[in-house]
Amino acid sequence: MKHLIDPTDLTVNEIAEIIAVAEDIIANRDKYSEVCRGKKLATLFYEPSTRTRLSFTAAMMELGGNVLGFADAKSSSVSKGETVQDTVRVINCFADIIAMRHKVEGAPLAATEVSRTPIINAGDGSHSHPTQTMTDLLTIKRELGTLNNLTIGLVGDLKYGRTVHSLIKAMTRYENTKFVLISPPELALPDYIKRDVCDRYGVEYRESNDIESVIGDVDILYMTRVQQERFTDLEEYERVKDCFILDAQKMRGAKERMAVLHPLPRVNEIAIEVDADPRAAYFRQVENGKFVRMALILKLLEWQNEEERTFDHGGKAMGCKCPNPLCISNLEPVRPRFEASEIEPGVVRCVYCESKAE
Ligand code: CP
Repeated sequence: MKHLIDPTDLTVNEIAEIIAVAEDIIANRDKYSEVCRGKKLATLFYEPSTRTRLSFTAAMMELGGNVLGFADAKSSSVSKGETVQDTVRVINCFADIIAMRHKVEGAPLAATEVSRTPIINAGDGSHSHPTQTMTDLLTIKRELGTLNNLTIGLVGDLKYGRTVHSLIKAMTRYENTKFVLISPPELALPDYIKRDVCDRYGVEYRESNDIESVIGDVDILYMTRVQQERFTDLEEYERVKDCFILDAQKMRGAKERMAVLHPLPRVNEIAIEVDADPRAAYFRQVENGKFVRMALILKLLEWQNEEERTFDHGGKAMGCKCPNPLCISNLEPVRPRFEASEIEPGVVRCVYCESKAE
């Protein structure tokens, strides 16, 4: 069974296949209007969403299929204490494929352990958001024509931003990727991404305190919101917050051929005046999300019976506990599993949320 829990569950070739199908859908919409006739997608959203849930819904409708599910866990039997795995066993009786968003990290991976249908991670806590990454990759390809030789500036909340974590994991696999990490120290990229992703694949990254000094170097500027609620020191927030707002003045320093992406929602980190700039790609990015999700649904349904397709998050019980209180292994009856870091000797990480075990 092929699932999509982490961007690296797809090989580079499989990503290329999905992007090619998405581009074919864009060019030949009618050809795909009946291909999922009789199929059902379940959208299990335990956390709020506008783009991801509705683009999955629109995607399945445009493929001729049907959609069922919930947009709020309170309206499901989760509110009575049903576990993620039991919910998935039930939904397997009704749907052919499941897209799940959960605030608990590792919940979609736990779902794969019991599911008879493909599971798509539609965002799990601060951990991962692989379908946003597929959206980002299609957008980068359409805006710049390539996924190779790109310098990507990542701005804002790099600590809790799951879209950033997933995009870095995906882009390390393309030729000559470089990252510029632009965040306040409180929201710096987690260590596991620097060590086990960037260092492991020898990908160059540098850190910066402001957009202005680096904007001229980047091909992609990936904006995210600086989340005031994450700061313990509000004075520190006040000091740094405006360094991470993109406006027309800052855009004057950018390359002529570059693209500004944002997973959205935006609050104030991109001034409205930037929307009129042809390099502002974030609303085109939203539409790409529907096309890439159409392609993903099609390919996962096609691949589910192909034995050569792999899905393995590995790990084994090591007698330790995940320190992350928001990890599924601490919240539901899921057996904790850990894997040794390939970069840091003696370090083991939880397979569900990638936290370093204590
Ligand atoms: N980009 C994204 O995940 O948006 P939603 O939270 O609205 O789904």
